Amino acid sequence: MNITISQSALTNQKADIVITFSFEDDSLLKATKKRLVELYPSASAAVNSDDFKGSLRSTMVIYTGAKGASKIIVAGLGKKDACTAETLRRASSAAAKRAAAYGVQSIAIEAILGNNLTPEESCLSLLEGATLSNYKFDKYITAAKGKKKVNSITLFSDSKQLVAAGKSVSAMAKSLYDGVTLARDLAQAPNNEIYPETLAKAAVNASKGTGIKVTVLDKKKIQALKMGGLLAVNQGSVRPPVFIVMEYKGGKANDKPFVFVGKGVTFDTGGISIKPAAGMSDMKGDMHGAATVIGGIVAIAKAKLPVNVIALVPSTENMPSGTALVPGDIVTFMNSKTAEIDNTDAEGRLILADALSYASKYKPKAVIDFATLTGACVVALGTVTSGLMGTDSHLIDQIKKSSARTNEYVCELPLYEEYEDLIKSDFADIKNSGGRWAGAITAGLFLKHFIGDYPWAHMDIAGTGMAPSERDYWPKGGTGIGVRMLVDLVKNWKA
Ligand code: BES
Ligand code: MN
Ligand code: ZN
Repeated sequence: MNITISQSALTNQKADIVITFSFEDDSLLKATKKRLVELYPSASAAVNSDDFKGSLRSTMVIYTGAKGASKIIVAGLGKKDACTAETLRRASSAAAKRAAAYGVQSIAIEAILGNNLTPEESCLSLLEGATLSNYKFDKYITAAKGKKKVNSITLFSDSKQLVAAGKSVSAMAKSLYDGVTLARDLAQAPNNEIYPETLAKAAVNASKGTGIKVTVLDKKKIQALKMGGLLAVNQGSVRPPVFIVMEYKGGKANDKPFVFVGKGVTFDTGGISIKPAAGMSDMKGDMHGAATVIGGIVAIAKAKLPVNVIALVPSTENMPSGTALVPGDIVTFMNSKTAEIDNTDAEGRLILADALSYASKYKPKAVIDFATLTGACVVALGTVTSGLMGTDSHLIDQIKKSSARTNEYVCELPLYEEYEDLIKSDFADIKNSGGRWAGAITAGLFLKHFIGDYPWAHMDIAGTGMAPSERDYWPKGGTGIGVRMLVDLVKNWKA
């Protein structure tokens, strides 16, 4: 995706389609219409019709009769005083989708200021909406081969202030686009494309030229490290596990790193506690946590943020077979703790346990894990909001602020110790399933047994990782959830 910023007039655009915005408020809508009629008198009938009222997500196409851009899309923003960053993302996304439907390759967007937003926030939001809505996982669709796609977006304005702001955020917009689409591609890819070893290769490929160093620990090294949880989940599988370590050193040598941990179950059948057939294909996305942290660190590195970040990805399939883990087995983890296997479908926590132990060696500033961990979280929060848990109120507070800025919703669930009773085992330190009640919380509490001496937060993205349908700038399928939040978090981190 090519992003350019230009100081120029509406009438001077070279792109295939031009997009401009209008508020819904009476006087502002009238002003938009007056301006368009003055510029393009031949379009006056369309412009003056009552069809377009400026409501959010609505669009109107006008034929300018002019030489340059022959079509202009006017996109509604709703009422001015309610125009947030998210409003701009949604309006820009609606307009960009309408433009893309014409099969064009280049679009030009006229920048506009949101309510109480800085010019930078406004420009970044418009670019996010336009770029992120322009995504389709169609590489396996023969008819889509060679199809024209939007590959160039120009943000223009005749205001010097907006142009300067656009220039200051364009590299960030591009980094976010790259990170989010990488995460979507990885999450959406089927298991015959992305399995542990190819996930590692994808992490290596995506890191080229970014300054990220990638180390892939193979099964031998995983055995040497005694990562019993990762090995246990993998033991039913023909394909070996990997443990991916990505390091980005954009900060000072002695700055403590942020450590991101992502669940990388490339396919979750449930194992011997096998899942029902209906909907099982969604479990190709059970590595969305991995996709999030890989996309996140790549976006941070591309944006050249002055921070140190480590991304850790324990990755395996969860398969049933004659060698698979069975209920009743007792697993010993890297940190010597033990867990009784009550249900082999509660596998994510087993591989994250070892990764959270491994994280200690970096003396992290904070550790945040992302995992499509529990169906219980989907029951509680649906596909709109991620479950947030953790041990450190400062970290949780910063995540909530990033959540508000990026509109990636979170809801905090409590890790009260009373819930521990649900994961007590008679034969091991804990058991891996707490049953149906408070399932997201008992999974979080399980993880808490493996954290080191660092601030920790856990994001359950089981509901938000794979979208059942398209929504604004989210596609159906892998959403890329968490990438924008991670970038925002480290960028705006306050010690
Ligand atoms: N990967 C699933 C959780 C999941 C469910 C992700 C729906 C996305 C959509 C996880 O490994 C799982 O199977 N969890 C079990 C845990 C239970 C056995 C304690 C669950 O939630 O049913
Ligand atoms: Mn499972
Ligand atoms: Zn799983």
